[in-house]
Amino acid sequence: MQDGKRHLILIGFMGTGKSTVGKAVAELLQVPWRDTDLSLETEWGHSIPEYFKRYGENAFRQAETGMLAKCLAEKPAVITTGGGIVLHPGNRDLMIQNGYVIHLQADANTIIKRVKQDDPKRPLLAGNQVEKKVQELMQEREGYYDFADFTIDTTASSLQKIINEVVQYWQ
Ligand code: S3P
Repeated sequence: MQDGKRHLILIGFMGTGKSTVGKAVAELLQVPWRDTDLSLETEWGHSIPEYFKRYGENAFRQAETGMLAKCLAEKPAVITTGGGIVLHPGNRDLMIQNGYVIHLQADANTIIKRVKQDDPKRPLLAGNQVEKKVQELMQEREGYYDFADFTIDTTASSLQKIINEVVQYWQ
């Protein structure tokens, strides 16, 4: 980190709007936007589902941790992350030490609706009954996002309202 500013880091379960919000906030603030998933895909030259297929989830988690460290070492930015980045305790510590961590959350029904509208790009959901798998993962990850500095419920909020709220945390 440089310049005395802190990164703005968005965490949250799949479908909570991290990338959409983060990209818009970075544009508004005119600061870089880094997304750990997109950066990995660019580095690899192929998609996350393809990576899961070839190397499995554990390898993905390691790569994700490496990419997080890389993003945090760069100049202050809005950093958006994959929903599972919080599973690794080291990642949680790194994020808290290097930025303001904002947790975007939504209720299960909203998440299910959103992920069903997205491309079939989420390997943890592919081949599963989405409702059941989302509920299972949400349960498994209960409490994992609680280390955040702030939590914003996106369930009933407009995108603009969420963006306006997140922007305030850039300091
Ligand atoms: C994952 C979420 C995905 C992506 C990968 C694993 C997870 O990102 O990192 O498929 O474990 O929750 P999004 O949260 O952007 O969907």
